[in-house]
Amino acid sequence: EQINKGHYEHYMQKEIYEQPESLTTTMRGRLIRGGLSKSKTVLLGGLKDHLKTIRRSRRIVFIGCGTSYNAALAARPILEELTGIPVTMEIASDLLDRQGPIYREDTAVFVSQSGETADTLLALRYAADNGALCVGITNTVGSAIARNTHCGVHINAGVEIGVASTKAYTSQIVVMAMLALAIGGDTISNQARREAIIDGLFDLPNKAGEVLKLDEEMKDLAKLLMSEQSLLLFGRGYNYATALEGALKVKEVSLTHSEGILAGEMKHGPLALVDENLPIIVLATRDACFSKQQSVIQQLHARKGRLIVMCSKGDATLVSPGESCRVIEVPPVEDCLQPVINIIPLQLLAYHLTVLKGLNVDQPRNLAKSVTTL
Ligand code: AGP
Repeated sequence: EQINKGHYEHYMQKEIYEQPESLTTTMRGRLIRGGLSKSKTVLLGGLKDHLKTIRRSRRIVFIGCGTSYNAALAARPILEELTGIPVTMEIASDLLDRQGPIYREDTAVFVSQSGETADTLLALRYAADNGALCVGITNTVGSAIARNTHCGVHINAGVEIGVASTKAYTSQIVVMAMLALAIGGDTISNQARREAIIDGLFDLPNKAGEVLKLDEEMKDLAKLLMSEQSLLLFGRGYNYATALEGALKVKEVSLTHSEGILAGEMKHGPLALVDENLPIIVLATRDACFSKQQSVIQQLHARKGRLIVMCSKGDATLVSPGESCRVIEVPPVEDCLQPVINIIPLQLLAYHLTVLKGLNVDQPRNLAKSVTTL
């Protein structure tokens, strides 16, 4: 049943729409709320015998490619906050090119939808040979990465057919947020934050359902952008990953050049591109970086930038510098979970751009769902 399109026109569309359900499946049986102590905890069965070792590790290294790398990047700040362990990021091919240092005291986390990506698998062999504890986060039970890691967590997002990864991405972020909660343990100083995140996780499928109502709005935006040559996305903090992932979605299916930019780097080069023609999406939902993003919007507006701003519901007047600016309002959730919500309108935008341009949305040219060659 999972592998036909049902009443949807394309797999990508179906998989975008499945997210309230896939997020629920990812969390099922793993979030515990209630009991006598009314405590809220996370249970990741596949990790329970290894949590002590992970907590003692000197560093956590996330390793992946494409969308899976972006998901890990989105989760990095919450891992750092809740565990206090340094977290570094590696694109699998780059780690191999550099033969970068991996130590016995490292926990190496391999993130992959298919579990079969050749670069990630080779990086896993490399990390294992160097003595690191290897953790797999995959969506495919029995995949090579699942079999060759010491322990792991299944994403349980359901089969993904569209070459563009959508529901696996949001479920991967949720798995890594749960990983942060599990490694962080039950320290008193983090208790309120932990409980807020767990409450936020419980409510996330509802919020994903709510943000899907932006579909028509994103289709209108796609009509406006369909003849553009290029699109920039500016994000920072939790949503730097959203900028990268939004750009990846747009480029891989709609074949429009698109670039995700760290907003803090704007003045170090990208600002030169800004004029009244190039469309720019700025991610400015509520978190600790909000006022910095407001200032980015002002600076882009001062250079006559053609702006589309994504903000938290109710913030339109706070972010919009003028009438020419389009605003996408999304439901606010706990800051570290906001990337799960923010990517959904961008997935819809990429989908509609592609369909409007008459391109193959489920099987973009030159790409394969699973990249099993080096
Ligand atoms: C995602 O939309 C892409 N098709 C691609 O970047 C993909 O995420 C990458 O190839 C990694 O695949 P994996 O998650 O199966 O390892």
